[in-house]
Amino acid sequence: MRPKTKSCFSQLHLNVLAAILAMLLLSACGGSGSQSDSLRIGVVLYAQDDTFISSMSQNLEQLVQEEESRIGQKITLFISDSRHNQTTQMDQVDRFLARGCDILCVNIVDRTAAAVIVDKAEAEGVPLIFFNRQPVDEDIRRWNQTYYVGASAQESGALEGQLVVDAWTSDQEHWDRSGDGVLQYVMLEGEPGHQDSLLRTEYTIQTITDGGIEVERLARDTANWNRAQAAARISHWLEEFGAQIEVVLCNNDDMALGAIDALSETDRPQEDWPLIVGIDATAPALEAVAAGQLYGTVFNDSRGQAQAMLDLALALYNGEDPAETVALEDGHYIWLPYRSITREDLTRLPEQ
Ligand code: GAL
Repeated sequence: MRPKTKSCFSQLHLNVLAAILAMLLLSACGGSGSQSDSLRIGVVLYAQDDTFISSMSQNLEQLVQEEESRIGQKITLFISDSRHNQTTQMDQVDRFLARGCDILCVNIVDRTAAAVIVDKAEAEGVPLIFFNRQPVDEDIRRWNQTYYVGASAQESGALEGQLVVDAWTSDQEHWDRSGDGVLQYVMLEGEPGHQDSLLRTEYTIQTITDGGIEVERLARDTANWNRAQAAARISHWLEEFGAQIEVVLCNNDDMALGAIDALSETDRPQEDWPLIVGIDATAPALEAVAAGQLYGTVFNDSRGQAQAMLDLALALYNGEDPAETVALEDGHYIWLPYRSITREDLTRLPEQ
């Protein structure tokens, strides 16, 4: 039989250990419902392997560091990667809420799952900022502490279309390879169901036809924002349509770079390539613009969007009316402007 004193001593140790463990767990993102002196922001990303999203997340980390030293207030950022999986994302949301994060920022995997997340955040009283992947308005309005930070999909599509109108009208002889006066194009679309895929596709074409240009679609398909998938589609279309393709319209830059990869694999000289346009103004895309491979792109302000999220988070955490510190529209939305970029604009580009 073990001596009594020793077992009492062990029990005491266990209790102390349990108390310390509980404190450690709670301090990971603050205790549930607790208000500490540091702002803790939980961020869930739909996929960190997405070029634009990874740039947004890097910008957010950098801005948080700058803001901390500027305002002398501790800000802790927790970032998790949902890896294209809504179930994984729900677990991450639950975990951040259980840990007592003060603000939750969600780059939702599946836009139709937004209502569930709004209800979870509301139940914990944690303000919710969706970004980049836009839930429907009805879900955003479900709770008055739900916000969306993004950029207008229509605007980016219209700007991309305008790039094409400008190129075509200023040098139709060059771009209209067949000389039939009709613009033959292929379209590389982002993920099906994403607001940017649907609206960029629609408004790019609408702007081109509004510009008085007759169009003929040779092919369209999704390449899910992805460079390798885009290269595979374009290789296939180049075999099928060859020089009939006069314009390659891409819902984002990674897919435009995929098109460039596919064309680079052929023996066609660059001056005979179709006109290619994209959206995002990522660093490799700007290099392609400088090299004359990509005719133009549309600047998707990842830093501006990250800054807006941070400003909104700070205002909410400090109990301020966000409408007084950020440009809030309809009580729930912050919109950052897009801007088109061609080779001539490169020197005037703000830092991403
Ligand atoms: C778009 C962006 C794409 C992709 C997508 C992810 O705004 O242009 O490149 O990042 O968001 O949701």
